[in-house]
Amino acid sequence: KVVAVILVGGPTKGTRFRPLSLNIPKPLFPIAGQPMVHHPISACKRIPNLAQVYLVGFYEEREFALYVSAISNELKVPVRYLREDKPHGSAGGLYHFRNLIMEDNPSHIFLLNCDVCCSFPLPEMLEAHRKYGGIGTLLVIKVSPESASQFGELVADPVTNELLHYTEKPETFVSDRINCGVYVFTPEIFTAIRDVSSQRNDTATLRRVSSYEALQPATRIPADFVRLDQDILSPLAGKKQLYTYETMDFWEQIKSPGMSLRCSELYLSQFRLTSPHMLASGDGTKSAIVIGDVYIHPSAKVHPTAKIGPNVSISANARVGPGVRLISCIILDDVEIMENAVVTNAIVGWKSSIGRWSRAEGVYNSKLGVTILGDSVAVEDEVVVTSSIVLPNKTLNVSVQDEIIL
Ligand code: GDD
Repeated sequence: KVVAVILVGGPTKGTRFRPLSLNIPKPLFPIAGQPMVHHPISACKRIPNLAQVYLVGFYEEREFALYVSAISNELKVPVRYLREDKPHGSAGGLYHFRNLIMEDNPSHIFLLNCDVCCSFPLPEMLEAHRKYGGIGTLLVIKVSPESASQFGELVADPVTNELLHYTEKPETFVSDRINCGVYVFTPEIFTAIRDVSSQRNDTATLRRVSSYEALQPATRIPADFVRLDQDILSPLAGKKQLYTYETMDFWEQIKSPGMSLRCSELYLSQFRLTSPHMLASGDGTKSAIVIGDVYIHPSAKVHPTAKIGPNVSISANARVGPGVRLISCIILDDVEIMENAVVTNAIVGWKSSIGRWSRAEGVYNSKLGVTILGDSVAVEDEVVVTSSIVLPNKTLNVSVQDEIIL
């Protein structure tokens, strides 16, 4: 059997996602019309002999309760949310629930970051891992040398694919191959994490005995806080324990609202290949004019004279009026867009409204980029909002550009 663990983090982790993470945990923010975490979960369905999917995080249980029961029913895979009482780090979070995870006696454990967008080639990784042996295989991708430093950079043996060297977010360039945050491990990973934790305990005791502690305050990390990258991947590199599987597909990280727009685009175009029924066709006489990849929730009401796409997702109960033009945007639940308004490169938050002949638009090379309207923002008629971030419950009656409206 195989189990999958998806790291969802917690409320302190989603701060770069504000103001959109004020309403909803970042992992549940809709991307291509589905909660962010839905994409890795549905990818897990393709793993042979999958017994269980666990979401591990430190959000309140109730924030995930509805979602996990709905998704378990929909995908017919048991999905459970496991809450950490405090952050244990990416490896520590996994280790904290080792007894539960091992209940199914899995031969392999997938570990996935929830804030990455990719095709999740999980069955392929498992197959590669079985060939390589060792305790784990990580998904890697080649990125531009300029962007590599935002990630874990690594060097792999071109022939055996063994992970030879790993450095987390290095200051000087190491490699353009990076860690995608998607792993498959054997249960031996728990031994590796335990060893780091007990080493920490030992040094802590040693320091107390020799009263070194005051000299080295920066090294006082709690013994049960273990990071997968720095504490596990770096020391195990070059020891024939870890291997790499390189993807040639798309991969992005979803740290900011602007990135969620880009990731929506990637997932919508993936739907075109994997689940075309998810996309609006626009060929009916009653429906709007649809261009490219567009998702429209069945409960949304879109006027037939509206022109939608490409890269648009419209959530539940949204209303889109006559003559509206939507390009590259995410329209959340209960939004109203009135006649002849234009929304491009923007995210419109829950229950917001955009008035007649108004515009919400983002200019990519500007300071703030994508326009983001928080929850319950009202843009009045004939107002233009350009590359601005508007916090919840604001009313805009004058046009703004490159501003953060608090
Ligand atoms: N449950 C839980 N508990 N989850 C956590 C914790 C924790 O204490 N800390 C982080 N996470 C989750 C985050 O929500 C995210 O899904 C994932 O673990 C990784 O988050 P970070 O540890 O903050 O790292 P990062 O996203 O900056 O970078 C990592 O991922 C990149 C790929 O997206 C690194 O592993 C990089 O090397 C890698 O390139």
